[in-house]
Amino acid sequence: MARKILFDTDPGIDDAMAILAALRSPELEVVGLTTVFGNADVDTCALNGLRLVELEGHDHIPVSKGAGAPLFRRELDLGTEVHGLDGMGNTNPPPPRGRLDPRPAVQFILEMVRTYPGELTLVPLGPLTNIAMALQQDPEIASLVEEVVLMGGSAFGVGNISPVAEANIFHDAHAAEIVFRADWDVTMVGLDVTTKTIVQPEDLSRLYAGKNPATDLLERIQPCYQAFHDQVYGLNGAFHLHDPSVTAYLLKPELYTAIQAPVYVETTGLCFGKTIADVHRQWGARRAARILVEADSRAVIDLLIDRLIQ
Ligand code: BDR
Ligand code: CA
Repeated sequence: MARKILFDTDPGIDDAMAILAALRSPELEVVGLTTVFGNADVDTCALNGLRLVELEGHDHIPVSKGAGAPLFRRELDLGTEVHGLDGMGNTNPPPPRGRLDPRPAVQFILEMVRTYPGELTLVPLGPLTNIAMALQQDPEIASLVEEVVLMGGSAFGVGNISPVAEANIFHDAHAAEIVFRADWDVTMVGLDVTTKTIVQPEDLSRLYAGKNPATDLLERIQPCYQAFHDQVYGLNGAFHLHDPSVTAYLLKPELYTAIQAPVYVETTGLCFGKTIADVHRQWGARRAARILVEADSRAVIDLLIDRLIQ
């Protein structure tokens, strides 16, 4: 039986690749997309969610709009310089055909968890605002969700949006702290593995040779992402596989090694958004998260490309 997953996402160039690969994988059943601000404003991200499910005939999958800003704080800080103003690499995609689900994201998440008790995996690929709000509204969901597999954080390395913080966690550190504090099974797919999984131009040639709607879309939108990775990391056309690593982990967890440690999130000061792994349990009895630390990067990239071109 296919594993039921719900993406909470801010599409987003790498979100698109993660979602399209999942939609093409029979082991996974996507029960819905909830959307959040992050890579672009939430209205843009919600429309992109619709575009993604419609691209290859998955129009029946509901897409719901969620939080447009973090729980508390500060000015809204979007990833448009990485993903384009439209979240799709400034390609100005046509409007989606369908409409958003009328339920707000938090309501949709709560209903899905209760519809599939013990069976649903939440897969956040953006700031954790919707997930934290769902937990706050109905704390019981912690015992009803099968697993939370999220892209975010950096346990043992540097950050990307700041010297210490990863972007998804930084965009709503308070929400992330709520998610890591809850008593549920969390897998953290952070920069520890995603920055070691670097897709090369020759991989992209193989991907784009797929010549299907998914690979054609990725071919259009990814140059913007490549330009960012060139400019900031000097990667010469290569880029980090952040959100798609989550799909790879869902499909083949054996491609990763993990450690278990409670995770805390800094919510003040210069280190705002930093994730801290309490490896020696010195800060108390918080439930440990599964923190991915190593990846068989070659196999991850090949797996994702295979799914996208098959
Ligand atoms: C994360 O931030 C966003 O730019 C990506 O979509 C990914 O979810 C990487 O830090
Ligand atoms: Ca994302």
